[in-house]
Amino acid sequence: MEFKEKLSTYVAEIEQAFETLLPPESARPVRIHQAMRYSLFAEGKRIRPALVLAACERFDNPRNALPAAVAVECLHTYTLIHDDLPAVDDSPLRRGRPTCHIQFDEATAILAGDALLTYAFQLLSRHYAGSSDKGIELIQVLSEASSSEHLIGGQMEDILGEQRVLEQDELNFIHINKTSALIEASLEMGAIIGGATPEQTSSIISYGRCIGLGFQIVDDILDATSDTQTLGKSVGADEASNKSTYVALHGLEKSRQYATELATKAYQICDGLDMPFLKDLAIYLNRRTN
Ligand code: IPE
Ligand code: IPE
Ligand code: MG
Ligand code: MG
Ligand code: MG
Repeated sequence: MEFKEKLSTYVAEIEQAFETLLPPESARPVRIHQAMRYSLFAEGKRIRPALVLAACERFDNPRNALPAAVAVECLHTYTLIHDDLPAVDDSPLRRGRPTCHIQFDEATAILAGDALLTYAFQLLSRHYAGSSDKGIELIQVLSEASSSEHLIGGQMEDILGEQRVLEQDELNFIHINKTSALIEASLEMGAIIGGATPEQTSSIISYGRCIGLGFQIVDDILDATSDTQTLGKSVGADEASNKSTYVALHGLEKSRQYATELATKAYQICDGLDMPFLKDLAIYLNRRTN
């Protein structure tokens, strides 16, 4: 199957699984379930859950990775809802729609984020509890990636960083933790469900680091160069809030060059793994326009 077709197939599977796995909108209280679904069902690229499915499919023992894929997307969507709050990035637009706090209100957006975060772990414990110790391993990987030392740690330093120009290693800490950690965890979770060997898992995590760091560099580039219509979120926000980004520190050309180097490195790691989909994905993400 062609790369684009394969990606669309994953996205369709993931979005169908939202319907069956999420609490219905009619569940009490209706408002919280409406808000969770509003942000989750909006047009996201679904890269992280696709990574769970693709990583799992590569190995010998593929079992149902969809609940884990949905869990990762729930957790990711929570980070977006909270990232957009007035106290954080204060963004009015996300996934082509008014952000959750604008469509509903701030309290509902905070709670919808909380609920999606919790729901991610509910899904993992419900669907993988019976499969030897895989359930615990999945919970461990996802909770570590989203912890105060990783994703939240990256978000904290991102906010603190608005006060001054950061050093390169500080910026790397932010990008690796706020963004790459969850991308790496998505791949690792897929590898765990699929039954990868420790060596295969470690290669897939190295691949994840390259595309994860590259993903945030490209996000910085798009914030500086794209338009709201294409991106589905506000552009120019990083400069307006004085963020130290790759673009701010190194300029566009160097940032593009580094992102491409990372994509090439990711591409090469895939040769050893025999993973054509992930190979194409590394290039696709580097060239993405939204
Ligand atoms: C946005 O992630 C937040 C970052 C880590 C840069 P995505 O670019 O994957 O957003 P969606 O899921 O497609 O909306
Ligand atoms: C957000 O980084 C990372 C997380 C949500 C964890 P950004 O603040 O750059 O993401 P966008 O540009 O708002 O999507
Ligand atoms: Mg942010
Ligand atoms: Mg933001
Ligand atoms: Mg950004």
